[in-house]
Amino acid sequence: MSDLISLQRRARDGEKLAMLTCYDASFAARVEAAGIDAILVGDSLGMVIQGQTSTLPVSLDEMAYHTAAVARGARHSFIIADLPFGSYQQHPAQALQSATRLLAAGAHCVKLEGGAIMAETVAFLTARGIPVCCHIGLQPQSVNATGGYRVQGRAHDAAQQLISDAVQLDQCGAGMIVLEAIPAPLASQITARTTAPTIGIGAGPDCSGQVLVLYDALGITPGKPPRFAQNFMTDGCDLDMALAAYVRAVKQGDFPTTAHSFGTTAT
Ligand code: KIV
Repeated sequence: MSDLISLQRRARDGEKLAMLTCYDASFAARVEAAGIDAILVGDSLGMVIQGQTSTLPVSLDEMAYHTAAVARGARHSFIIADLPFGSYQQHPAQALQSATRLLAAGAHCVKLEGGAIMAETVAFLTARGIPVCCHIGLQPQSVNATGGYRVQGRAHDAAQQLISDAVQLDQCGAGMIVLEAIPAPLASQITARTTAPTIGIGAGPDCSGQVLVLYDALGITPGKPPRFAQNFMTDGCDLDMALAAYVRAVKQGDFPTTAHSFGTTAT
C-alpha cells in the first residue's frame, strides 16, 4: 500500500510518480495491477462518465459514490478524491465536512483547486490529519472565470503569481501539487521551489510525476484529444499493456515530452 509519506520520499529520491484518474471498481483493479502510484477519482467524471460539458455539476454524493467504488476495486492503492465545486470554497469547516465524506468513502487524500486563497483551508485540513493535494494552473472548476480551458501562467505576472501560490500551499502542508496546463519552464521552476511533489498534466517533463485522465490515456475520450494527452492503447495492445505502458513511460521519463508541453508563448 502506497502512502503519502513514501510517495513524497520516492519523488524526493528522483522517482517519477505515475497517476491516473479512475472512477469505478473494475478499472481501478486493472490500474492498480499496472503498478500505478496513485489513483485520482477526479471530478473529470462529470465529463467522461456523465457527459457534462464541465466538472461544475458534479456533486459530493457522486464523488463519494465513485470513490467508494474505486476503493473496493483497488484495495492497496493511494486514492485521492476531488472535492467537487461548491463543497469546500466557503470556509475550512465546510471543506473538513466534505473531506470527511470522501475519506469515509475510501479516499486517503482530497484534492482541491485554488492558489493562496485556499492556503488556510489546506493548513486546517492537514492539521486535522487529512492529506491534501492542491491543484493550480488551469482550474477546471473556475472555467467560467478564466474564459475557457486555456494555458495559464504565460504572462510574467501570472507566472509569478503561480510560483507564489505554490510556495504558500507548500508551506501550509500541501501533500502534492497538481500543475495543469502551464508552460513547462514555469512548472520546472515551481518543482524546484516546493517540497511537495508536483504532478503535471500539460506542465512538461520536469514535474515530480504525471497524471492523465484514464479515458485520454486509452484514447476513448470523444473529440480532439488535448495536446498533453497520449493514447497508450496502440495497435496490438490490450488494456493491461496500455496501462503498463503509461506507467513505464512516466517512470522512464518518456512521457510527457516537449511535444505534449506548452511554452511561454502560444504555438
Ligand atoms: O478531475 C480530474 O481528472 C483532474 C485531473 C485533470 C488532474 O483534476
